[in-house]
Amino acid sequence: MSVHTDFRKITTKTFMLMKQSGTKIAALTAYDYITAKLVDQAGVDFILIGDSLSNVFQGNETTLPVTMDEMIYHTKAVTKGVQRAMVVVDLPFMSYQLSVDEGFRNAGRIMKETSAGGVKLEGGERIAETVRKITEAGIPVMGHLGLTPQSIHQFGSYRERGKNEEEVEELLKDAKIIEQAGAFSIVLEKVPAAVAKKVTESVSIPTIGIGAGVECDGQILVTPDMLGLTQDFHPRFVRRYANLSEEIINSVKKYTEDVKQKAFPSEKESY
Ligand code: KIV
Repeated sequence: MSVHTDFRKITTKTFMLMKQSGTKIAALTAYDYITAKLVDQAGVDFILIGDSLSNVFQGNETTLPVTMDEMIYHTKAVTKGVQRAMVVVDLPFMSYQLSVDEGFRNAGRIMKETSAGGVKLEGGERIAETVRKITEAGIPVMGHLGLTPQSIHQFGSYRERGKNEEEVEELLKDAKIIEQAGAFSIVLEKVPAAVAKKVTESVSIPTIGIGAGVECDGQILVTPDMLGLTQDFHPRFVRRYANLSEEIINSVKKYTEDVKQKAFPSEKESY
């Protein structure tokens, strides 16, 4: 299997080609211009303005409080930093649950007011009509199955999904329904690896796993988690590639010490 690394501007077409050629899709989240620019330069294939910004950027316990206006504000900043990756935006809680038309209008708002390339919605059968209407208007939709954090109060916990036969059947059925409704890919969150493999083999669109094993067509992580900026969140699916919280604390300590001891600024750093 040849590995393609020369995909230029990533589109939904690229996603399909990557699935067909067995090229894994690498994705991360971003909520601001600087991070988006770095992550894009490093070569990820898509960048998600996840509603996880509610947790990691705004300090909320759940993803529920973040609003449409806030998602749009952050998306505008992110897209300015991105040249290659496809940019996908989460439709936040209650921006599409009320009615098909409401979801359609809000997806359209994101596409009109930002330079994003698509939207992501959580859920299976119950949002299929919304996915259909949005995709029929030419807006790429990414699905999100398994653990869907916008329904945390219904589930009652962040435990993995697809643990029993009933949940597996539902996952397989929902993946098919979301594919048939027109989605170009599906995020699978916190699903046993063997189940994610089954789902991945059952659809022709790529699956993007987070805590869903290596057999998904791609992987996504929340950037502040994988860079070690988040200090108090250690699920086993997060691999930490850096320890930026420690780096930042040490750098700020050193700076504070230098200021107190008049070691900063030096003559060279003064006018
Ligand atoms: O909000 C988010 O960051 C997400 C990813 C975890 C997939 O939905």
